[in-house]
Amino acid sequence: MSPQSTGTAGVKVSLPVSTHKPAPYNGPARDEVLALRREYLTPGLLTFYKEPLLVVEGHMQYLWDEKGKQYLDGFAGIVTVSVGHCHPQVVKKVTEQLGRLQHTTTIYLHPTIGQYGRKMAEHMPAGSKLSSNYFTNSGSEANEIAILMSREFTGNADVISLRNGYHGGTQAAMALTAHGTWKFKTSPSVGVKNAMPGYCYRCPYDLEYPNCEMKCAHDIENVIRYQTPGEVACFIGEPIQGVGGAVTPPPEYFGIVYDIVRKYGGLCIADEVQTGFGRTGTKFWGFENWGVTPDIVTMAKGIGNGIPLGNCITRPEIAATMKNRIHFNTYGGNPISVTQGLATLEVIDAENIQQNAHKVGTHLKDRLSALQDKHALIGEVRGMGLMLGVELVRDRKSKEPANTETADVLEKCKERGLLIGKGGLYGNVLRIKPPMCLTTADADFMADCLDEVFGLVG
Ligand SMILES: Cc1ncc(COP(=O)(O)O)c(C=O)c1O
Repeated sequence: MSPQSTGTAGVKVSLPVSTHKPAPYNGPARDEVLALRREYLTPGLLTFYKEPLLVVEGHMQYLWDEKGKQYLDGFAGIVTVSVGHCHPQVVKKVTEQLGRLQHTTTIYLHPTIGQYGRKMAEHMPAGSKLSSNYFTNSGSEANEIAILMSREFTGNADVISLRNGYHGGTQAAMALTAHGTWKFKTSPSVGVKNAMPGYCYRCPYDLEYPNCEMKCAHDIENVIRYQTPGEVACFIGEPIQGVGGAVTPPPEYFGIVYDIVRKYGGLCIADEVQTGFGRTGTKFWGFENWGVTPDIVTMAKGIGNGIPLGNCITRPEIAATMKNRIHFNTYGGNPISVTQGLATLEVIDAENIQQNAHKVGTHLKDRLSALQDKHALIGEVRGMGLMLGVELVRDRKSKEPANTETADVLEKCKERGLLIGKGGLYGNVLRIKPPMCLTTADADFMADCLDEVFGLVG
């Protein structure tokens, strides 16, 4: 793989060139695609970039537009492509299944769903008894099931989620999402209370870790005592907040929170939609980094390397509550999505994807951290493995969010062949979450590209 210049004036960095040759694109032009979308799709769909990007092919960590320009995918379809776009092993298995049987629903038996359920349970921490899977089509749905089971199991109604968190776009999942930009006025937010995340860079109490005595984590006890009847159904939290901007809590945060929630009768749910499947590098599940064992784990995105698939896994006695009424999901666990999920999990294990996320992610984080000495725009570099965030500020003291600069960085990276995401409460955090097959050469390109772009924007 030899580096190749983008050919754009003033651009010095060069993207490693993939050996994959994209097929010639014969479809409609970008303007036509955009016009179709504007006329026939909901205006609620958002696009990145002043000139929205048309993507027509993908292979491993790379994407191609309609003109054959190659990009390094630093955002993986929002943290979804875990082992690489169209990974050959995954494509092979799912193509075979597509030609044999696509759908029946779970009212009949099919071998793959049970085999996949077993493999998933084998990936849970030993002794956790997390073995009963409810496969869904999305992360939002998995979170809905988790809340439903918690309420049914505990007999309590109140749910606690974290400020700056994101748990999905269905009405109940949106109600959990304590992030104004994402939240419509949905009435099912009844019973949802929000506690403080471990967001040290913008500590709501203006305290400094470790002298803060973890006030943010202890806040949950006040929420339960003063805003609920003193008992809760559950707490839900992302081990590292994704949409919220790779917010990584102090190591003891979740231990304190889980103890308090359990004291008041609640279950603890880890939303692993972004952090799961080895992405944090050091551990397979994000929660394992914090030394806690949840009662329920929800997952989606990276679970299926791009297919609509989610899962809610729990202990058998909690799962048993789903027998209290008839509950049904037409596509949950269908042969196609579980075949893709199983093939993805096999690749994660066989290709040491978690270990790669650790190695390449650590290298990338070190390189990005080193850029802090050079570019005042960088307020903080945080995250673990290949779940990284770079918070941009106009002034390091006031921490004024550099949101327009962040959008500008994204545009300039795109020109150079790098796609990354943005997020955070103020839209000022660069989100770097590529397919986990990323190489060190790709990581170096990312860091060089950001170095060049920060020099132009900061
Ligand atoms: C942490 C987290 N939970 C849940 C969801 C919702 O998943 P989905 O979009 O598949 O419904 C997302 C989506 O971004 C997420 O990041």
